[in-house]
Amino acid sequence: MRIGIIGAGNVGMTLGSSFVRAGHDVVYGSRDEGRTAPHAGALLGSIRGAVLDAEAVVLATPYAAIESALDAAGDFEGKVLIDATNPVGPDFRLVVGRTTSGAERVAALAKNAKVVKAFNTTGYDVMANPKFGAHRALMLVCGDDTGATATVAKLATDIGFDAIPLSGLARARDLEPMALLWIQLALKRGLGRNIAFGLSRRDAAGASADATVNLAALDLGSVGAAKKSVTMVGTGNIGGGLARAWLRAGHDVRLAVRDPLAPDVVDLVELGAKTIPVDGAANGSDVIVVAIPAAAVADVIPRLGELEGKIVVDCTNGIGAGMVMTAPEGTSSPELMAGVAKGARVVRAFNQQGAETLREASFDDLRAVSFVAGDDDDARQTVIGLSKDVGLDSIDAGPLEASRALDHLTLVWLTMSKALGSREIGLTLLRR
Ligand SMILES: NC(=O)c1ccc[n+]([C@@H]2O[C@H](COP(=O)([O-])OP(=O)(O)OC[C@H]3O[C@@H](n4cnc5c(N)ncnc54)[C@H](OP(=O)(O)O)[C@@H]3O)[C@@H](O)[C@H]2O)c1
Repeated sequence: MRIGIIGAGNVGMTLGSSFVRAGHDVVYGSRDEGRTAPHAGALLGSIRGAVLDAEAVVLATPYAAIESALDAAGDFEGKVLIDATNPVGPDFRLVVGRTTSGAERVAALAKNAKVVKAFNTTGYDVMANPKFGAHRALMLVCGDDTGATATVAKLATDIGFDAIPLSGLARARDLEPMALLWIQLALKRGLGRNIAFGLSRRDAAGASADATVNLAALDLGSVGAAKKSVTMVGTGNIGGGLARAWLRAGHDVRLAVRDPLAPDVVDLVELGAKTIPVDGAANGSDVIVVAIPAAAVADVIPRLGELEGKIVVDCTNGIGAGMVMTAPEGTSSPELMAGVAKGARVVRAFNQQGAETLREASFDDLRAVSFVAGDDDDARQTVIGLSKDVGLDSIDAGPLEASRALDHLTLVWLTMSKALGSREIGLTLLRR
């Protein structure tokens, strides 16, 4: 395929080199068309020329330049336009609201283009080489046109990614926060640029479909939390799964329940948990884990009793119709919980993937990743320890505000699960 690339910077040149290596033709479109092509096997000309000459075009300019770049590009005449840009401001925040995305703005500006979001959720170093041992970095691709989305997924596969096409350009509202999370982890949390999201699959019986490779070099951390008194508010898929893991790890698990004779509660009591009433459940607990429907939070939190200084873990997901976050712009569900749970040290965790990953976090040699965010360092480290006790690859995601990006992983996981027709999938964080 002949691929046009607008913006011969880090991303543009890396993708261009990889496309050439994969047997595609590449033509760069530059504001300075007198420049020589940046690498062998590619041509460089005007931006308009690259569009006219190509079957698919990559937009790899700074987000601030999309308007002028697309103006120079002219009519795409029904061609595929791959939006690799990220609408990230200098303060590490997205400059678009939650009800739209950079990709949708690109689609509004580009004339007659089939816009597909891709190549935005990892760094250019990973684009140069998406292999991590036997594993490949995940590349999520979304668009409104099924054929165009499949074409871009194929291009991502050609250059070594594990590509998954998702339906609807509006899913870029999740992929752009996912990119922000990558940027925060790589550049602010010190994990470095050689990290990538991965996706592991296993069959329903629990056998992993991944190739086995020794990635023992990955420091997944084996030290869990010192013995804690953990109160579970909610004993369903998430609360029940966590309670089982923590009973196994030797923690003192209490169940704040409406009905002590409910079958799921009785099962956990047989494993060593104790039941207590919901009212005043915080008394005598180090950690209170809230795993109830988001709609019940405002009613239940005030009933728990004195929360001053307690660690409250928010596992709830505020997801509304059309798979969107219900938290208003500029906040997140755990930040809202922190406003209700006065004096508590609220930590975000255990909400990003299906409960299947709590039941069994291992996917051959990898473990499902669990990001933990919270403003209190000690509380965050305690929950990271508890997360390790579940067997999860537990990553410090920083302050509670990180949840604004982090929480979109839930929607990403659900969308991938729907696209692949399986809940036995685990998002992983690959490192090398
Ligand atoms: N860096 C990453 O790891 C990464 C990862 C994923 C996504 N992204 C996103 O991908 C985009 C490109 O990132 P980058 O790191 O490659 O940036 P970069 O190295 O600064 O390159 C940007 C390129 O855009 C071109 N450009 C700037 N203004 C333009 C305009 N008005 N019209 C046409 N072209 C223009 C420039 O090319 P000419 O000077 O040749 O015209 C420049 O080489 C950004 O939106 C970024 O957020 C970056």
